[in-house]
Amino acid sequence: MNILFLNGPNLNLLGQRQPEIYGRTTLADIANRLQEQAAKAGVTVDFRQSNHEGELVTWIQQAMGKFDVIVINAAAYTHTSVALRDAISAVALPAIEIHLSNIHAREEFRHRSLIAAVCKGQIAGFGENSYYLALQAALQLKLN
Ligand code: DQA
Repeated sequence: MNILFLNGPNLNLLGQRQPEIYGRTTLADIANRLQEQAAKAGVTVDFRQSNHEGELVTWIQQAMGKFDVIVINAAAYTHTSVALRDAISAVALPAIEIHLSNIHAREEFRHRSLIAAVCKGQIAGFGENSYYLALQAALQLKLN
């Protein structure tokens, strides 16, 4: 089983960016911990980050035939991107939306996710654990 983890804009700054909201763990730390858990579960994880909407769209398109599940923290594009939503719909792969923070408990503009309706479900508010919970959810999707 191959799982593609995609991270959107500013997530490369994790660890130094608003630590009171996003924690002190870096994206590289999360990637390393995920790789350990994935190895134990016998699955492969490809972990990527981009600040560019089009690059994320291209990666989603290219996932067809290569990955079984997409896990996506679209960051700010969650709230704005019809292009990411359309890409997820187009590839017809199961997708899981994740966020470190609880977007529903923050500013009103973060309450709306344009990608939620085309994802299997959403995991938000558990800090870095949102990523590890998503790995578990991805494993479950494959079993079902
Ligand atoms: C985020 C929440 C978004 O609203 C925000 O724009 C981010 C990070 C999260 O993981 O909590 O950049 O996706």
